[in-house]
Amino acid sequence: MLFKRGKLADGKDVREGDLRVSEGKILETGSDLSPRAGERVYDLEGCYLLPGIIDSHTHFSLEARGAVSDDDPRAGGMSALFGGVTTVIDYADFLPDRPLPESIAARQKVFSTCPVDYHFHLVLNNNFQRDRLAELEQLAALGITSLKLFTTYPEVGYMLAEDLWPDILNTCKEIGLLVTVHAEDNALVEERTENYRKAGLLGFDYHPRHRPAASEVEAVKWLVGMVEETGCPLYIVHMSTAGAAEVLARARARGLPLLGETAPHYLLLEEKLFEHPGAARYIMTPPLRRGSDQERLWQGLARGEIDVVATDHCAFTAERKMEAENVLEVLPGIPGVETLLPLIYTYGVGRKRFSLPRLIQVLSENPARIFGLYPRKGSLEEGSDADLVVYDPGPRWYLQDEDLHSRAGYSPFSGLELKGRVRLTMLRGEIKVEEGEFVGRDSGGRLITGRRIQD
Ligand code: URP
Ligand code: ZN
Ligand code: ZN
Repeated sequence: MLFKRGKLADGKDVREGDLRVSEGKILETGSDLSPRAGERVYDLEGCYLLPGIIDSHTHFSLEARGAVSDDDPRAGGMSALFGGVTTVIDYADFLPDRPLPESIAARQKVFSTCPVDYHFHLVLNNNFQRDRLAELEQLAALGITSLKLFTTYPEVGYMLAEDLWPDILNTCKEIGLLVTVHAEDNALVEERTENYRKAGLLGFDYHPRHRPAASEVEAVKWLVGMVEETGCPLYIVHMSTAGAAEVLARARARGLPLLGETAPHYLLLEEKLFEHPGAARYIMTPPLRRGSDQERLWQGLARGEIDVVATDHCAFTAERKMEAENVLEVLPGIPGVETLLPLIYTYGVGRKRFSLPRLIQVLSENPARIFGLYPRKGSLEEGSDADLVVYDPGPRWYLQDEDLHSRAGYSPFSGLELKGRVRLTMLRGEIKVEEGEFVGRDSGGRLITGRRIQD
């Protein structure tokens, strides 16, 4: 297939040109490529041709709190494709009673119906003990490049004992595994939550007070200390606060190996939504923050202090979320994979906060590089997988729940104006979505293994 007359945009630049796909790969790019006999020619008519978007933080079929999130890998992957996302990086839980590779194999089985390509971070939950440290080396052979650790969530078995952190980080430094972290200071969260519980203040509007900005900032400071002690690179997921962005920026300026991720909801939605009727639909952890936090996060992205935007997609139907009688009962998480690209295009590029190549860096090239999938993913170079998105920057429209494909049935971003639409999504040379219609096979995603190049 030959894409012609487009603007090819990657993490380096935007250039007029054509691109040819053959056998699932990008075969060549050029300025005036001639069609071959029998080859389909797609006239881009000036639309952008982008590398497939990588959402490096999703929770399809997440099992926690006695519940399973509503988008399984098939539903979540379909939603992803409509939004131009061709690869997701989800999570595999550490299974204590089995050899380490089985934690990955078990999750891969769950993903057998996923229509997009996928990779996993291995979650070291509180079942992980020191005597299993040596096994982490096996992950490299499986092509798994990162772990996920939590500084909070003891109630769901995720929080790791403090004395394990230096040992895990020293091991990961040695074997080249990247450690990603959900950062909230648990002592502060527990203290605040307990005080508000005693005072009967459990309304949804109290969510940001139960889990205050300071809890994220303190946790990130503590993690900077861990990096200083061990030299192990850390990647902070879903940063929500100006304070965390500031701490990260300063640590990086001192040369410490810290990477950062934020999410569209922390860039675009404010905590006052928790005062609205139906507020339960907006509850996720960490909570939404203030306008000043949003501005600092945008700034961090523009300045190159924050590396990735990913969604933390964890979909529950509005009905399930609104069954909760108070904030502590809400199933946390929101859908987001399908709106990632149009939101960041509209409010990042469209609002001139940063360039289109910077968008490609934070939504595709950087996650590919950081998690060892580059240049197979995140690139328009010859030989890369033909994961491509045709993005038409012209249309302006207002997002509505009905536009989306997640089983959540709603979007916290509904009502926002969007600039541009995904016109086509291709995965490894197969057109999956064209003009709003699903036209591909509804499975066929593959586990993409990686190898991390150490900085
Ligand atoms: O509220 C959220 N973010 N749910 C998903 C789990 C997590 O903390 O990432
Ligand atoms: Zn998290
Ligand atoms: Zn998450």
